[in-house]
Amino acid sequence: MLEGKHIILGITGGIAAYKSAMLARLLIKAGAEVQVVMTPSAKEFITPVTLSALTGKPVVSEFFTANTGEWHSHVDLGLWADAMVIAPATACTIGKMASGVADNMLVTTYLSAKAPVFVAPAMDLDMMAHPSTVRNLATLRSYGNHIIEAASGELASHLTGKGRMQEPEVIVAELERFFASTSQLAGKKVLVTAGPTYEKIDPVRFIGNYSSGKMGYAIADEAARRGAEVTIVSGPVSIKPTVPGVRVVNVESARQMLAACEEAFSQTDIAIMCAAVADYAPANPADRKIKREKEDVPVINLVKNPDIAATLGARKQPGQSLVGFALETDNEHANALDKLRRKNLDMIALNSLRDAGAGFGTDTNVITLIDATGAETRLPLMPKTEAAACILDAINNL
Ligand code: C5P
Repeated sequence: MLEGKHIILGITGGIAAYKSAMLARLLIKAGAEVQVVMTPSAKEFITPVTLSALTGKPVVSEFFTANTGEWHSHVDLGLWADAMVIAPATACTIGKMASGVADNMLVTTYLSAKAPVFVAPAMDLDMMAHPSTVRNLATLRSYGNHIIEAASGELASHLTGKGRMQEPEVIVAELERFFASTSQLAGKKVLVTAGPTYEKIDPVRFIGNYSSGKMGYAIADEAARRGAEVTIVSGPVSIKPTVPGVRVVNVESARQMLAACEEAFSQTDIAIMCAAVADYAPANPADRKIKREKEDVPVINLVKNPDIAATLGARKQPGQSLVGFALETDNEHANALDKLRRKNLDMIALNSLRDAGAGFGTDTNVITLIDATGAETRLPLMPKTEAAACILDAINNL
């Protein structure tokens, strides 16, 4: 998967920089072309000579070569790359990347890079746990960067905790996985539903729910990053896709959402139903505001909404994949599997309201993926952006 890929290996000034030599070597062995970009302080930990010898390319660290005045174009470098990997990434560089402090070649290259960016943090446990690091990593995730979580173990300080840079083999495996899935998703048409639906009671009131749309938008962004042509049919939410090119069809009610999905579905390779569709809608929405001054408390008669996932499931053709979500409170596996079968889904992503950090509005999720055979994979608590990546990986493996 890495054969012929152009990888920028960004190295920052941390003890784990010694592992970057091994990472460079593994990338080269896998067939990649590697261009090392080091921060000035990284050179205190590992010499550019080691890295240029391993990669066969001079290391870039300064904006200019001092004696010739040759300018090193971070823009060209950013465009050359198929991926940028920053390993190790110190708290300092992570902070600069989060806020755009472009005072060295590495951060300017990062800001110019159009390719996916992978960040492997390495630092002492207290720095890792500091709210500023946590916030900066969350910011990088929100930019769509892939964070290769630090491992726990003994640190350079001889303290034990989370902060060890992942082993080079793990980082390479992460890249392989990413490129494998990119090659499978490139050019595929992906349809995602997201957010709540609003069902009109009268011109100013509706029945709705607390769905934020974050999970669906994270999936749409990640699919687009992997080269898919993405349409998101979205109920009312306050977020937007962060990746350019994602087509948004805004709808309000379940019926409008169904109509938009039906229109797109025949052209769709993969449909992922993330929306929290209202189960019922008022049978006769008033065309004027219902007045409180009236004597009687109004009774709102409800009708059942169409099941969008089930409607698409009934029309699914060979070669199309349909994935749904299930938010459950009890008897989770059996309920989710029953939904998967009833709606003719290929996979269902189950989240339980019993898990802290899962469900509506949160930035994290705890997901169990269940396929049509009933086999399940439980993912740990992770940001919705990372859960999106895992869901797309699992769809590729179906
Ligand atoms: O039946 P339940 O609402 O729990 O099913 C959840 C799954 O079905 C989700 O994927 C959701 O987006 C989808 N769904 C739908 N249309 C509905 C209800 C649910 O597409 N009316």
